Amino acid sequence: MLSYLEIQLMPVETIAWTGEAVRIIDQTVLPCQVRYLEITDLKTLWEAIKTLRVRGAPAIGIAAAFGCYLGIRDSKAQDFETFRAELAGVCEYLGSARPTAVNLFWALRRIQDLAERMRDHPVEMIKHEILDEALNMIEEDHRVCRSIGRFGAELLHDGMSILTHCNAGGLATAGYGTALAPVFFAGEQGKHIHVYAGETRPLLQGARLTTWECREAGIPVTLISDNMAATVMAQGKVQAVFVGTDRTAANGDVANKVGTLGLAILAREFHIPFYVAAPLSSIDMAIESGAEIPIEQRNPDEVTHSFGRRIAPEGINVYNPAFDVTPHRYVTALITERGIVGPPLGENLQKLFAQIKAK
Ligand code: MRU
Repeated sequence: MLSYLEIQLMPVETIAWTGEAVRIIDQTVLPCQVRYLEITDLKTLWEAIKTLRVRGAPAIGIAAAFGCYLGIRDSKAQDFETFRAELAGVCEYLGSARPTAVNLFWALRRIQDLAERMRDHPVEMIKHEILDEALNMIEEDHRVCRSIGRFGAELLHDGMSILTHCNAGGLATAGYGTALAPVFFAGEQGKHIHVYAGETRPLLQGARLTTWECREAGIPVTLISDNMAATVMAQGKVQAVFVGTDRTAANGDVANKVGTLGLAILAREFHIPFYVAAPLSSIDMAIESGAEIPIEQRNPDEVTHSFGRRIAPEGINVYNPAFDVTPHRYVTALITERGIVGPPLGENLQKLFAQIKAK
């Protein structure tokens, strides 16, 4: 069930719990409409992830955690085994929505691990804790993004212009963003940072979301079409590239919105640093390299239709991968909530995760 609320709420609250429903800002209608949806059932939540009403790796993870709760809150299970099997079914279903962002699977694992730890408690209590865990993820995401912002802002100086791709701002998280967080943080420090936003074909997250969000936040922003990136770099208009990631492998290879790889190669050619804001929840230490990252293939209609009409001949062959993988050699540094990780990325990620485990 879906209900539309025409409320204007600023600053952006991407995802929240109302007490009964998950409330998300519907990113498919931005920037023309600021529309909130209240979702009360699992299937609608799955559809919201699939169709990018809620999108961006961290926001997808949080949405999935709430999805777990929606999926089990009416469970009649009396014993843990029955409940665990129901929860596993819910997680499998949610995991089928989008394959690339590891945050989705990270969140589902976290909810299942929580249930496992509580196996000796009444089912009703486990349900309650699952909801609490989803709420914790929102709080945690705010802290993580703020921290990425603080570390990333050290790379920015007053008067700088950066190029970003897709949307890795507040809309892609619970509210503060990853790749845009350093820009927001630098702004709070009184630095003036200018953002060039690549439009990001085919779904135009850059044109629709990043420009809207920057403007709302008072950050000067200039929209370019994707094929203008080389031009702005060649003309010296940008001094750094900042992007997010859906999944970064143990060796530092980065999956992000398709088009990111091209920007990384261009940045190398023009001697421009290429930074990837990567919360630890987006780093998949279980896979060695980007070759193992599943890349989502999306509906051809997204490429053949634009501006509400067909833009290519009927029946034309289409290839529509939603993400690409940038080899780690192009990445100047990863900006995590634990600090900036420079090359050799594989070695330094190992060290960082070992330190975290040891604590
Ligand atoms: O298909 P989308 O819009 O979910 O893709 C989003 C991106 O590629 C983001 O850059 C990534 O998820 C990082 S968001 C902090």
